Amino acid sequence: MNERIGILTSGGDCPGLNAVIRAVVKSATKLGWETIGFHGGFEGLLDKDYQTLDYKRMDYLLNLGGTVLGTSNKGRFAVKTGVGQIGNLDPNVVKDSIKNFKELNLKALICAGGDGSLTIAQQLFEAGIPLVGIPKTIDNDLVGTAMTFGFDSAVSCAMDALDRLHTSAESHNRVMVLELMGRYAGWITLWAGVSGGADVILLPEIPFNYESICAQIRSREIIGKHFTLIAVSEGAYEQGGSVSLISSDEKNREARLGGIGNKVAEEIAKRTGKECRVCVLGHLQRGGGPTSLDRVLCTAFGAKAVSLVKEGKFGYMVSSKPPHICSIKISEAIGKLRLVQPDDDMVVIARSMGISMGDEIKTVF
Ligand code: F6P
Repeated sequence: MNERIGILTSGGDCPGLNAVIRAVVKSATKLGWETIGFHGGFEGLLDKDYQTLDYKRMDYLLNLGGTVLGTSNKGRFAVKTGVGQIGNLDPNVVKDSIKNFKELNLKALICAGGDGSLTIAQQLFEAGIPLVGIPKTIDNDLVGTAMTFGFDSAVSCAMDALDRLHTSAESHNRVMVLELMGRYAGWITLWAGVSGGADVILLPEIPFNYESICAQIRSREIIGKHFTLIAVSEGAYEQGGSVSLISSDEKNREARLGGIGNKVAEEIAKRTGKECRVCVLGHLQRGGGPTSLDRVLCTAFGAKAVSLVKEGKFGYMVSSKPPHICSIKISEAIGKLRLVQPDDDMVVIARSMGISMGDEIKTVF
């Protein structure tokens, strides 16, 4: 019987999950291994719900959005319910996962996931499952890798939204506010804001004040620019304030962020008299196929994960350290978030371009 590995996709979906599955299956097949894919993230391992992945059917997965295996960010494996709020997996869940892993005669398990999913992976690894992680999240907030897959695709979608809002803002002399995902990290908003020509970028890492934003709008008016584009992270908040949450009764999951776009638009309209409109990009950022950069990253990550299994390097996560694809211990990548630093090069560049980060009063020229 061929050697066998398992793969699962866990946490929020994002562009590139299928490209990772393809890369793993193709590389494993080259080594003569069979790959099975668990359905619905770790839940599939617990329910022995899986499919055998046939390498001949992998080609169409390179550019397909979502995940053909399904995924979950809640349920019996949800151990992370907030920043620094980590619980332990139920011992029976761990015991049954190990039992199923053994009964399925698996050599290793490859898990594509973000901070929450890799926290689960680490607990299963410590309990005895030989496992390798692949860093996934549109938020790009994982420590230990320069980039997670899904991020570039989300930025590209947000940039496209800004391009479209730009023409409408200019036609109507409006302030357009675009609320973007990213949870407590501002990477998507920062990169989309810079690539999409935002005039104001509001990040969770740099609390804003309304006077600063209004000063930017007024100084643009003075030079004849009667419209303003604002990119705001869902996790951004006013100085002295707190993150806007969408109330939810759901247990065993992280808080849902949202609503700051509307608050910003309302307050700006009140203070400047400008007509403001809001667009919440939401899950469009997570949908669709991966960009070329994400396809390359997913292919490299998937192939590297298989080579880590071959080397027996378990408990590791593949990582991007340009120009190399390396690996680091999962334990070193979880439990803390990689956030935008206020002196990050891209923040400095944005400011030098006259973009307001919402925290200082200045004029455009
Ligand atoms: O972590 C990815 C992410 O898309 C965040 O940017 C966002 O806050 C969250 O997931 C949304 O989660 P859900 O799809 O469960 O509403």
